Amino acid sequence: MRLPVAAMIPWLACAAPSLAQAWTAPPAPRQPMPFSHRVHVVDNRIGCTSCHPNAARSPVAGIPSVERCRGCHKFVKQDPEQPRLTEEMKPLLAKLREEPPTTIPWVRVHRVPDHVHFSHAPHARGGVGCAECHGEVEKMDEARQVSSLLMGWCVECHRRKQVEKPVERARITDCIACHK
Ligand code: HEC
Ligand code: HEC
Ligand code: HEC
Ligand code: HEC
Ligand code: HEC
Repeated sequence: MRLPVAAMIPWLACAAPSLAQAWTAPPAPRQPMPFSHRVHVVDNRIGCTSCHPNAARSPVAGIPSVERCRGCHKFVKQDPEQPRLTEEMKPLLAKLREEPPTTIPWVRVHRVPDHVHFSHAPHARGGVGCAECHGEVEKMDEARQVSSLLMGWCVECHRRKQVEKPVERARITDCIACHK
């Protein structure tokens, strides 16, 4: 059996993990097909929330469905000036021809443990930009994790941002904000 973290708080308050843990960024995981944020966001000016619309309004940002890829790629099938991009589009175009349609098994890059309560919505409302947590995704050909997502990282920012709005953000450094 595993106690919820909230139940352990009275005992753990003194033994909370060190806020200055060493951390090394992992390499980007191997994905089932190529997908470059740089090509989509910078070269073709497609905004983050056009593919991750829920990042501003719900707990989970979500990964776009094959249908969303199809919306553009039924027209975009090659780039005569950039043979490398034409090549990289092939696995997607093959996927779009599959009958019945199947999903793309993208490998998760970011994950917090189940005992942690995280939601994108309050961060978007509070004006915390994607890059503050995910780095410059628009420069990445392969999405990778650049922040540790460790407790010390969360709490350090919450302390810093609390100073800006001490009343509204009075509780964001309490254990219970992140451990229900
Ligand atoms: C054309 C659609 C598209 C656009 C635009 C886009 N993304 Fe993505 N994003 C994806 C897809 C597909 C994945 C899953 C594949 C991968 O991880 O590379 C992904 C993955 C991610 C991940 C990793 C998710 C995980 O598994 O933890 C982050 C973070 C992310 N995107 C942030 C952004 C940000 C920030 C922007 C804007 C700068 C952006 N995305 C724009 C399609 C898009
Ligand atoms: C809003 C339109 C749009 C959407 C949505 C979109 N793409 Fe693209 N994508 C493009 C355009 C435009 C290019 C061509 C870039 C060029 O030729 O310069 C491209 C290029 C590509 C390439 C070649 C470059 C690279 O990224 O390696 C791949 C692969 C690709 N798209 C995969 C995807 C996948 C997978 C999805 C769905 C998760 C998706 N695209 C969704 C517009 C889109
Ligand atoms: C306060 C930090 C923070 C901000 C700001 C933030 N994210 Fe995230 N993001 C995370 C964390 C932490 C996870 C892992 C969540 C989990 O495991 O449930 C994540 C996960 C994701 C994922 C993977 C799918 C999912 O929802 O779990 C995508 C895609 C993503 N973020 C995109 C974005 C985009 C786009 C923005 C800006 C609109 C953004 N994020 C803003 C911290 C952040
Ligand atoms: C870059 C700064 C930053 C980082 C990093 C960050 N947060 Fe936040 N978080 C905020 C801000 C600012 C707010 C308050 C938003 C508002 O309402 O104004 C907030 C609010 C929240 C809330 C809502 C609290 C409430 O009771 O309203 C939760 C839950 C939360 N964060 C969890 C996390 C977790 C878990 C992590 C780490 C995985 C994390 N945050 C990392 C800036 C950050
Ligand atoms: C802003 C969000 C946030 C706040 C506030 C917070 N934590 Fe955490 N906590 C996390 C995250 C994220 C993790 C998982 C990553 C890690 O282990 O560093 C975590 C992990 C833990 C763990 C480790 C659990 C395990 O399975 O190893 C304990 C214990 C814990 N927190 C206790 C506390 C206590 C006690 C407080 C109040 C003093 C607190 N936390 C406040 C975000 C937070």
